[in-house]
Amino acid sequence: MRTNLDPDDLGDRRFYRFLTAVVVPRPIAWVSTTSPDGVDNLAPHSFFNVACARPPIVQFSSVGRKDTLRNVEASGEFVVNLAPEPLRREVNATATDFPPEIGEFDAVGLERAASAVVAPPRVAGSPVALECRLHSTLRLGDSTVVFGRVVHASIDSDMFVDGHPEITRLRPLSRLGGDEWGTVGEVDELHRIRYADWDGAFGAGRTSR
Ligand SMILES: Cc1cc2nc3c(=O)[nH]c(=O)nc-3n(C[C@H](O)[C@H](O)[C@H](O)COP(=O)(O)O)c2cc1C
Repeated sequence: MRTNLDPDDLGDRRFYRFLTAVVVPRPIAWVSTTSPDGVDNLAPHSFFNVACARPPIVQFSSVGRKDTLRNVEASGEFVVNLAPEPLRREVNATATDFPPEIGEFDAVGLERAASAVVAPPRVAGSPVALECRLHSTLRLGDSTVVFGRVVHASIDSDMFVDGHPEITRLRPLSRLGGDEWGTVGEVDELHRIRYADWDGAFGAGRTSR
């Protein structure tokens, strides 16, 4: 038996709650921006992903018009900071609906660090910063998708193992449904199968996890 849901019947609010509970876990872009008045803003966005690898473009969605979106539109720049597990309470606190003149770095007591090529600062305590220039925006219903070209990236060198960012050191937070947060659980490696190796690589008698 399956329960079938029609978005139109359920209504916007309830379908939003359903959708965000099943599109999980979502990575969190902790987005820093600077307002035209010089206020450094910071807010988590879990409607976030890589939009394109070549060139590197990331995307996040602003549901409604918020300080982050207004600042990005005005300055054309933002930084995506990785939201790390040890800063869980701080990440959540930066989602408070502060008025535009209050900067979340100051309100929450988070240290800034200068970015390398864009004006908005990065979060000093975050292991990864993706410095972005606005590529484009796309209006979708009540939301605006922001696409940013990554023009510079920096990472805490301690995150590297054998030249690769190590997930158990990055400890990224994720967003689940409602007020739920996730952390990285068991990590497994499974190599992709090339078609040339298909015969015998995924045949009868083999089990997959
Ligand atoms: C984990 C988490 C993820 C969030 N994801 C989004 C999101 O993807 N889009 C959005 O518009 N708001 C999202 N929010 C809410 C914003 O962070 C919140 O509205 C914030 O006050 C916006 O700040 P700003 O006005 O300074 O931009 C999220 C909140 C939390 C706690």
